[in-house]
Amino acid sequence: MIKSGIMKVTNSISELRRWRGQEGAVSWGLVPTMGFLHEGHLSLVRQARVENDRVAVSIFVNPTQFAPHEDLATYPRNLERDLALLQAEQVDLIFTPDAAAIYPSGFQTYITVEELSQRLEGASRPAHFRGVATVVAKLFNIFQPSRAYFGQKDAQQTVIIRQMVRDLNFNVEVVIGPTVREADGLALSSRNQYLNLAERAAATILYRALMKAQHRYNQGERQAAALRQLIYDTIAQEPLARLDYASVAAQDSLLELETVNQPALISLAVFIGRTRLIDNILINS
Ligand code: PAF
Repeated sequence: MIKSGIMKVTNSISELRRWRGQEGAVSWGLVPTMGFLHEGHLSLVRQARVENDRVAVSIFVNPTQFAPHEDLATYPRNLERDLALLQAEQVDLIFTPDAAAIYPSGFQTYITVEELSQRLEGASRPAHFRGVATVVAKLFNIFQPSRAYFGQKDAQQTVIIRQMVRDLNFNVEVVIGPTVREADGLALSSRNQYLNLAERAAATILYRALMKAQHRYNQGERQAAALRQLIYDTIAQEPLARLDYASVAAQDSLLELETVNQPALISLAVFIGRTRLIDNILINS
């Protein structure tokens, strides 16, 4: 494996392309992020480090995937800390564009992965995946990575990106890393830092609900409605939690199942106070 050693940081697409071009024919792993990095991101970076000659990370809080009422303005940011963490992981190249570099004045081309984007998260966040697909496509074009790394926690995002890669013939391998969790099961998320102490304790209800569904499935339950109901009932027991949705869907189409007789995604979105959290597990029947 060829190591370059010095971490380069740029907010310029042309500079990135120049550096990228100077490296010649080496494999690049790209980890797209919105920054405020945690172990979930770093586990993807480590996997990319092992599987590629060079590792690049993008840090960009992408405005087009936030609805006007969502948390774009308050989304946590700490570039200095992120850069120190990435330096320690021997990342080669970091791209920190501003919104004007990605969406210059007059920008008008968006990517919509049509049906998949309307399901699950898409029902609650209608324009979200258009923003995700558009920025990820742009990052793929800018970096030309051999592999791109995403976390299983954003399960629908991974399905949509794989579909986009197939549909638009991107020459990139999409690699999905497992969800990284706190000791009590809470999935790592930059948004966890919005939680106060009581909410942080309550937030474990997402994982507990998923584990109950997994357990009931392991005991032989195959009716998706019964598994969904178990999740509704579990979330209802936590006073600080308000369920947005619970789903038992096919892993590939994300269509709701009646019977769990194929690989399934059990997922949910829950408001803990004002913070909306998501989580999921895969059932491989
Ligand atoms: O998962 C995320 O952090 C974002 O959706 C992504 C893939 C970086 C696109 O902005």
